[in-house]
Amino acid sequence: DRAAAEDSYELWLRYRPLPAAARAGVPGAVAVDPAERDARVLAARDELFRAFAAMSGGMGGGGEVVLGTPATSARVRALRLDLGDLGDEGYLVRRVMTGGRPVTVVAANGGAGVLYGAFALIRRLQLGRPVEERSAPKVRLRVLNHWDNLDRSVERGYAGQSIWDWWRLPGHKDPRYVDYARANASLGINGTILNNVNAKADSLTAPYLAKAAAVADVLRPYGMKVYLSARFSAPIELGGLETADPLDPSVQAWWRAKADEIYRVIPDFGGFLVKANSEGQPGPRDYGRSHADGANMLAEALRPHGGAVMWRAFVYQETDPEDRAKQAYTEFKPQDGRFAPNVLVQVKNGPIDFQPREPFHPLFGAMPRTPLMLEFQITKEYLGFATHLVYLGELFAETLRSDTYARGPGSTVSRVVDGSLDGHRLTGMAGVANIGSDRDWTGSTFDQANWYAFGRLAWDPDASARTVAAEWAGLTFTTDPAFARPVADLMMASRQAMVDYMTPLGLAHLMGTGHHHGPAPWVSDLARPEWNPAYYHRADARGIGFDRTSKGSNAVGQYAGPAARRFARPETTGEDHLLWFHHLPWDHRMPGGATLWETLVRRYDRGVAAVAGFRARWAGLRPFVDAERWSKTADLLKVQEEEARWWRDASVAYWRSLNGRALPPGSPEPA
Ligand code: GCU
Repeated sequence: DRAAAEDSYELWLRYRPLPAAARAGVPGAVAVDPAERDARVLAARDELFRAFAAMSGGMGGGGEVVLGTPATSARVRALRLDLGDLGDEGYLVRRVMTGGRPVTVVAANGGAGVLYGAFALIRRLQLGRPVEERSAPKVRLRVLNHWDNLDRSVERGYAGQSIWDWWRLPGHKDPRYVDYARANASLGINGTILNNVNAKADSLTAPYLAKAAAVADVLRPYGMKVYLSARFSAPIELGGLETADPLDPSVQAWWRAKADEIYRVIPDFGGFLVKANSEGQPGPRDYGRSHADGANMLAEALRPHGGAVMWRAFVYQETDPEDRAKQAYTEFKPQDGRFAPNVLVQVKNGPIDFQPREPFHPLFGAMPRTPLMLEFQITKEYLGFATHLVYLGELFAETLRSDTYARGPGSTVSRVVDGSLDGHRLTGMAGVANIGSDRDWTGSTFDQANWYAFGRLAWDPDASARTVAAEWAGLTFTTDPAFARPVADLMMASRQAMVDYMTPLGLAHLMGTGHHHGPAPWVSDLARPEWNPAYYHRADARGIGFDRTSKGSNAVGQYAGPAARRFARPETTGEDHLLWFHHLPWDHRMPGGATLWETLVRRYDRGVAAVAGFRARWAGLRPFVDAERWSKTADLLKVQEEEARWWRDASVAYWRSLNGRALPPGSPEPA
């Protein structure tokens, strides 16, 4: 008995008739104050109409929903609800009796909260849960970073072209932008950076600002602000100035005028994201100025309008002999306290670059006077693109719960990011989007889960990755526990499986040059030393791994006391980061008694076996899933298993060419 055809376009917003018993509980009416003008409240109302009609199959008898804020809705005001701790984006969903009739109220202090509350109510009905909920986001700026170019190519994008159809904007606004906004609003994502961090100055010209303004108009009713990546040298390219020196008054004046121009067409513009002096991008260092000088100059231009600067800390120089993993800390830590109040420094989760597993970035906890924004990559650049099933909720949560020990035990990355550790009110989390023009948005159904997980964890960085996975599976497929539970198990195991078959035991950056797909640990002749896989694994006849202890690069010295002590010795580092921090002989004894070499090979085998297991499990779930989504996932899992073998066989063969060792007993010979 195969499930009915489904449309992967709908993401997790699949509004379907609920089981008969639940339909009567779906509200039949939605009420907003007749004078309500907040577009977000009206969008919430429309979304509820749409969802209730579909979920009740026209049978909704569960009373009325009243939504609004005490300020604009007399009915909400009359309930005298306690909304004190909800801020301007939190919400309360509550069942009350008014006039002897049951009413579901969605109340908030502002329109965004009402919108988020409406989506929460829908989610709870879809999942068959009691509808009452009280929630507020712990992080203020929850944004996607699109690495989308103006020609619609997407840097590190694996789901087709950019959804931003710059050519037809602003005249034509693709209806897809509305669905994009709905999906984001359902997660509480409240901003989007439209263009690539490797930015072209063109995006700041009047024609492109008009296009961005048209997108902003579509997103605004869904609580989303538009931001742009700014090219630091734009005053030269667009303004004809001779310099982009941030301390030059003509440069400052140019950016002030540019900001004024932007706010004339996008009154609620969010601000700038900047990649400066990184991988060939221009920046303040070109003029002997600091990152703070550059960021503060832009911040000053945006300040009168309420905009923010997200200044990236992803910097490393080819000319710098220092361990790449150390360079961002070396450059940024001394500038703590020098950034203007509307600047956030945006830091990738790990110190290298979105690897299958990295330790948390040492800047977390090390810049207490600066709001640090966490940047995750949702698109899977180094993680098998949109082909491999890898649930990133688990990766995100691992970073967030990492203890920096900056203010003693419990100083987790999540507490740095939500501002509670150092008392910051301006806080943020960014996810590099995996969205494109593919019908299913993200290139595969399971990659939708990574967008979903990013949004849910940006709202609550302490949320459980497993709970989020089960929730997504329930919304996207079916809430039947015989399906949702094994799928959540599979998702939770998927990230470690990938680590095992690609870069086990703390190895990193062994992917093919440039495209970053597939194994290439043997590459060692690239002009930039730190782009060579050999730079990272340092393997030879005697051993493998990067010595980052005090005898090596001393990257461990960038971590706070207890974390540094843990990473300083192989025995305490733990398997996950072993070869990240240590160079060890192939015969090094692991805790279980096996050698490093045996353990390494077994990890590759374990990764391959896990993917084979995912395939078998997915085969058993066929009755629960429509044909199209089932078979696409099955096809991709088959490719993933082949590529997992490729990774294992190529990597093991290469290590053997260095160490001359036999495979450990029981390990299958490569095909
Ligand atoms: C990675 C990625 C680049 C990207 C860069 C960045 O290095 O490969 O494509 O531009 O990260 O984050 O700026």
